[in-house]
Amino acid sequence: MVLGILGSGSGSNMQAILDAIAAGTLDARIALVLSDNPDAYILERAAKNGIPSGVIDCRGFKTKFPEEAQAETAARLKDAGVELVCLAGFMRLVKRPLLDAFPERILNIHPSLLPAFPGIAAWKQAVDAGVSETGCTVHHVDDGMDTGPVILQEKIPVLPDDTDKTLHARIQLVEHRLYPEAIRRLAQTALR
Ligand code: GAR
Repeated sequence: MVLGILGSGSGSNMQAILDAIAAGTLDARIALVLSDNPDAYILERAAKNGIPSGVIDCRGFKTKFPEEAQAETAARLKDAGVELVCLAGFMRLVKRPLLDAFPERILNIHPSLLPAFPGIAAWKQAVDAGVSETGCTVHHVDDGMDTGPVILQEKIPVLPDDTDKTLHARIQLVEHRLYPEAIRRLAQTALR
């Protein structure tokens, strides 16, 4: 299965996907990595792994993903032969025409037990809310913010002395296992 990755940050989830591929537990290939942030470490990871990558030109918009940029992104992913798009820490809302180009073929990983705590820094939202449990979720992307049908979810306790940082680190450990597993499941069912 040919994957395309969109990310805005470190790319540790993409690394987990690469590690699963290298370990032979995920039968896939990453064909293209695109980032809206030219300084994102995910682009360095792509280079280190010999994966073609590029920057998405968001026309100076800080948070918006302009329609022309979405069309360009869809075309680049299609040209690379991408079958499944994985958002890995991508911090802009995907809408048409990208959704239309990959119907039911765009996944996202989110650091909470959705529908709780959608949006930015979900781990901080959980600490601030004082909940005893949060989690992480892999879901299909629709045109909402962190909505769309859930593929896999796992609960993670919030410990009494957790800070934003310690909780996010523990959530990421689970994310790195859950994302490759969700891709594997999807490949075994919907894509075959
Ligand atoms: C991950 O924790 C991911 O769940 C989160 O950004 C982080 C990216 O880390 N995504 C969201 O909050 C999306 N709403 P990474 O760049 O190391 O994979």
